[in-house]
Amino acid sequence: MNNLVRISKDNDVAVITIDNPPVNALGPGLPEGVLAAIDEINGDPAVKAAVVIGGGRTFVAGADIKEFGKMTSGGPRRSLLPLLLRIEDSGKPVVMAIHGSAFGGGLELAMAGHYRVASPTAQVGQPEVNLGIIPGAGGTQRLPRLVGVAKAVEMCAGGKPVSAREAAALGLVDRLIEGDLLAGAVAFAREVAGKPAPKTRARAEKLGPAAETAAIFAAARDAAAKKQRGLKAPLAAIDAVEAGTKLPFEEGCQAEAKLFTECLFSDQSKALIHVFFGEREVAKIPDIPKETALIPVNSVAVVGSGTMGGGIAMVFANAGIPVLLKDVDEAALNLGMEKIRKNYASSVQRGRFTQAFVDERLKLITPVPDYDAFSVVDMVIEAVFEGMALKKKVFADLDRVCRPGAILASNTSTLDIDEIAGSTSRPEAVIGTHFFSPANVMRLLEIVRGKKSSKEVIATCMQLSKKLGKIGVLVGNCRGFVGNRMFGPYRREAQFLVEEGAEVEAVDKALVDFGMAMGPLATGDLAGLDVGWRIRKEYRHLEKPGIRQPFAEDRLCELGRYGQKTLKGWYRYDENRRASADPEVTALVQKWSADSGIPQRLISAAEIVDRCIYALVNEGARILEEGYALRAVDIDIIYLNGYGFPAYRGGPMWHADTVGLQKVYQRVCEFHKQHGELWEPAPLLQRLAEEGKTFAEFDKEQVAAA
Ligand code: 3HC
Repeated sequence: MNNLVRISKDNDVAVITIDNPPVNALGPGLPEGVLAAIDEINGDPAVKAAVVIGGGRTFVAGADIKEFGKMTSGGPRRSLLPLLLRIEDSGKPVVMAIHGSAFGGGLELAMAGHYRVASPTAQVGQPEVNLGIIPGAGGTQRLPRLVGVAKAVEMCAGGKPVSAREAAALGLVDRLIEGDLLAGAVAFAREVAGKPAPKTRARAEKLGPAAETAAIFAAARDAAAKKQRGLKAPLAAIDAVEAGTKLPFEEGCQAEAKLFTECLFSDQSKALIHVFFGEREVAKIPDIPKETALIPVNSVAVVGSGTMGGGIAMVFANAGIPVLLKDVDEAALNLGMEKIRKNYASSVQRGRFTQAFVDERLKLITPVPDYDAFSVVDMVIEAVFEGMALKKKVFADLDRVCRPGAILASNTSTLDIDEIAGSTSRPEAVIGTHFFSPANVMRLLEIVRGKKSSKEVIATCMQLSKKLGKIGVLVGNCRGFVGNRMFGPYRREAQFLVEEGAEVEAVDKALVDFGMAMGPLATGDLAGLDVGWRIRKEYRHLEKPGIRQPFAEDRLCELGRYGQKTLKGWYRYDENRRASADPEVTALVQKWSADSGIPQRLISAAEIVDRCIYALVNEGARILEEGYALRAVDIDIIYLNGYGFPAYRGGPMWHADTVGLQKVYQRVCEFHKQHGELWEPAPLLQRLAEEGKTFAEFDKEQVAAA
């Protein structure tokens, strides 16, 4: 064959092993190798059947995603379809033996086999929509023939994998093999050898009558429009499956190929592929080698049982790590534990967890009123009220009670980690772990590197984030770190726009239409307007005199309008926290603006988006240049996972690249002229725009230089 595919024999059964670590992606040469192996077994009279199996940890995780970028920038177009037809047409039965994952092209390869057997822990799926594409090698045509139209639509449009057990129940897997997969697959192959080999593409019994399937497609389109708002690929996947129910197999494949190509060349797909690699890139820290020793974290303590502390305790418990949860007294602890129980109960109600799982998690959380048991834990996460004096006191206490080597982490969202570390005798053990609210739900974890944080502590926290089901991004220690530092200018512009005459709902709608999960003003109401108000009061002395500052939100707070918690903020809320526009706010802001001499004007949705999104980009560029984010992609991953930025736009920095940095820079210059100093273009944005470069190219240069 070639070095990616091996063939061996177990008497009359040929074993074709795919060997392309780490995930056996179908890169160049691999499909050709499989084809040569199939030809060889068909020419060998001693072989009665074949097993195809993945070497290493998995079957085949799909097409090689790196190849897509080459294809869209003029490289050769490769299709797996002809190979899959040749496998399906093999005169001798081919049994696909699946462990790990059979994803995308991997599942398409498996479905071209005559039979599929799997380890019970395997997973199969068509996750292409997560990359902004659809299955491109007959997946939308063969899958409905094996699992029925409804399930095929769900899998192709939703992208979620199913377990081997479910696949077996659906008819996608013919047998589950406990124990040795290869031995079981060879035995299975022997059972089916000599019998007529069923071709998936020739099966039609599960395709169903058109009258029934029409309703499935309509419901799927509605669901995709709601749950995957703005994404084009799910709708294309539904179209492709539908084509498969109406057209002969070959024509269905042609329809699929056309839709696949349209998706592949779209900006959405380029953005989502950037996100796929970006999520893996952020784990790589240039000055921290992979082999850095990790500190075992088998038990933790959380200080503060409020909303954040309780949520963080749940995160650790969910990962099976025992947690001590400390607060000042029993009353506070009771409140904290009650909230945790309520949160878990609602997860059970929504079907996210079983009661048995929750009972086990609750046993892992031990409320404690003092530091007595802290001497044995491996890590402490402080989540007390956001004030420097209190945090310093807590860290001085931790320094006294924790064992040497324990990690001391702060969940601060704004405060200086170095100053906090300074209150201990071991600043190398101190780090920021900034969870996002609700901590047990949000995927982002900003890991804040202090000047003296040790490499072991950083590497451990990065690794731990994975175990906790989070995506950890390392950031530097500046005010607001990366996410909140950028969020400041974004929300500032949203307020300015209202003060200049835009309606509250118009500002939020423009950004929701852009793809943000929520508008900036509604987000403020949800988080509590008083939070920012208090912080602004604390930092007022840092504001440069003579520079315009937004005032509307502070004035709303002065009137007791803190947002959802007071049922009044930018919006008015009913007892179920459903928002409606509040004419009182409009009238108030109009009056305040008139008093301040701010001219009122009509503001377009396009201007709203440019002002808010380019405020993010400009601040992001500054952060990047100052080194508080390692790469532009790190900023993107932060925004996608912590701030509801639409993944199909790739994050703020990727979005700016897509628009074109010259255009973005030009717009920032216009805003600078109109609105003054706050819009001073970031030098990096200016440089890249003038050099005709992108943030992605800047990242590549950084990686090459490291
Ligand atoms: N192509 C290229 N590289 C891939 C890849 C793929 N399909 N899948 C994974 N990799 C790379 C990752 O980038 C990573 O590289 P790195 O070590 O240099 O960062 C390495 O393989 C290991 O990946 P993970 O860190 O993600 O390993 P895990 O063990 O955590 O997860 C996995 C393994 C579940 C297979 C996960 O990697 C995954 O979900 N991969 C993508 C699967 C997918 O989307 N397949 C569909 C591809 S599109 C397609 O097939 C189109 C077809 O219809 C024509």
